[in-house]
Amino acid sequence: MAFVMGNKALLETQRELRTHVPNFTFNLGFSGKFFHAGSDEEDLGDDLLLSYVKEFWWFPHMWSHMQPHLFHNQSVLAEQMLLNKKFAMEHGIPTNMGYAVAPHHSGVYPVHMQLYDAWKKVWGIKVTSTEEYPHLKPARFRRGFIHSGISVLPRQTCGLFTHTIFYKDYPGSPNELDKLINGGELFLTVLLNPISIFMTHLSNYGNDRLGLYTFKSLVMFVQTWTNLKMQTLPPIQLAQKYFSLFPSERDPLWQDPCEDKRHKDIWSKEKTCDRFPKLLVIGPQKTGTTALYLFLGMHPDLTSNYPSKETFEEIQFFNGHNYHRGIDWYMEYFPLPSNTSSDYYFEKSANYFDSEVAAQRAAALLPKAKIITILINPADRAYSWYQHQRAHDDPVALKYSFHDVITAGHDAPVKLRVLQNRCLVPGWYAIHLERWLNYYHSSQLLVLDGQMLKTEPASVMDKIQKFLGLANIINYHKILAFDPKKGFWCQLLEGGKTKCLGKSKGRRYPDMDAESQGFLREYYRDHNIELSKLLYRMGQPLPSWLREELVHTRASRCHCPDDGLLCVLKEEEEEEEGRLRDAQEGTFSV
Ligand code: A3P
Repeated sequence: MAFVMGNKALLETQRELRTHVPNFTFNLGFSGKFFHAGSDEEDLGDDLLLSYVKEFWWFPHMWSHMQPHLFHNQSVLAEQMLLNKKFAMEHGIPTNMGYAVAPHHSGVYPVHMQLYDAWKKVWGIKVTSTEEYPHLKPARFRRGFIHSGISVLPRQTCGLFTHTIFYKDYPGSPNELDKLINGGELFLTVLLNPISIFMTHLSNYGNDRLGLYTFKSLVMFVQTWTNLKMQTLPPIQLAQKYFSLFPSERDPLWQDPCEDKRHKDIWSKEKTCDRFPKLLVIGPQKTGTTALYLFLGMHPDLTSNYPSKETFEEIQFFNGHNYHRGIDWYMEYFPLPSNTSSDYYFEKSANYFDSEVAAQRAAALLPKAKIITILINPADRAYSWYQHQRAHDDPVALKYSFHDVITAGHDAPVKLRVLQNRCLVPGWYAIHLERWLNYYHSSQLLVLDGQMLKTEPASVMDKIQKFLGLANIINYHKILAFDPKKGFWCQLLEGGKTKCLGKSKGRRYPDMDAESQGFLREYYRDHNIELSKLLYRMGQPLPSWLREELVHTRASRCHCPDDGLLCVLKEEEEEEEGRLRDAQEGTFSV
């Protein structure tokens, strides 16, 4: 009668634990298909448990304990859940707790959107838990996140598994289990985490009732040796508490599911990491990113993303709200890999460059990716961006001159200040590049001279092909042609015609006024110096425009006596002198 006794003991233990932990309640998972599917005594145990149904909390654990990631079709998954729900209703099991657990952690992380959608549809699930985010080990790094309206809480490991059901057979010796509890890892888990969620299997509540033994002993040990106050909360309140304690964990950080074998095993077989890009063109905006995107797409080994309806060719996944749509959404932008098509996927989203979050997110999902950035003189970039905003009828850009925008002071209207920031901040190149270098090795990053991309795109494409290590090297001198009417290089089509970028790229507008030029030269001076140091460190050549700016910097910082013979460099500039000389000679080569 082990199961009957075990189930009685469950209730008794709950009552006992409540005297130490207010509101302590076991949360029991059910897979309806296995109800009354055991031996006679196990079936009796099932009945007994249901006779106390109101004493416990309950969560659905899938009708037949199937792993959700095996269901590609959301409606089939929902049908399975409905069977379990019907079972719950027939047996008076509450269906409104808003909490569920997926068998074997499947579908929770890595996220299987079909599971999230079916859970919400059938059960109104708001909370779940897993041991797998971001990874099972090390346990102390487990975190929570919120995705698609479902709070995913970190679950802890309690040392009891399906195979550890008898005290005397505990791996190592029974003493090992006691050590875990009495000051060992299990105790430390409770001590170091303000919220702990544990889960063990039914077999640990029958047999030797190790589940009950473990939690009772743990509570006693914690109460004896600490002054921690323990309490139990229902799942939804628990999730609210968790994310109010750890608000920074709300946003998930998607990892590459193929970097962790456990994750790969619980990821749908329909999904493949070969559907992620291997190259990101990160911008910044207005540096020639669309031209580069077109030229890359002409290469037979490279495949671009499908265009986005919202943002034209750009997916804009890593920098903004699209990230919260998850990696299934992102992958949909790339073709399913096939033997016939090339699988070197790339995407460009020009505002990744200066995003606070894109580098970290990209590196988590695409740690091996290659990254390309294009830099033009930040002053020209700012001006091109301003013209772009005017062309898009931005009322603030239409109202104020470029000079007004770049020189607006702290007391200027908020809208103008916002526009100013968006105009100028992407040009703080060194600061943004440093952020990417925090997450990617410098050998993964290629910095292109945007001026050269404009004037000698074929040579730039040679460099890129080498950087990417492509098998086929294409001679872009033969497939690009300068279009005098457009004033830019374009794709050469059969019959000698050219396909150029639309009129929004390579716009015609008056030159920047001299006063703004002077202001921006001063404004970006230190940023440009920092950039030169950074590129030097990276072993990348300085773009031509940067060399010119540095030369200008030196000239303007020299204090020339009247006879004009002697230039006195400031102390800090002396340090730079050697580098400036190299820059002038163009000897910063890789
Ligand atoms: P302007 O329109 O201000 O001249 P992005 O695609 O990143 O928004 O950059 C647009 C800029 O790309 C254009 O800015 C243009 O100067 C530059 N560009 C570089 N090569 C080009 C090309 N082959 N065709 C069109 N524009 C090109």
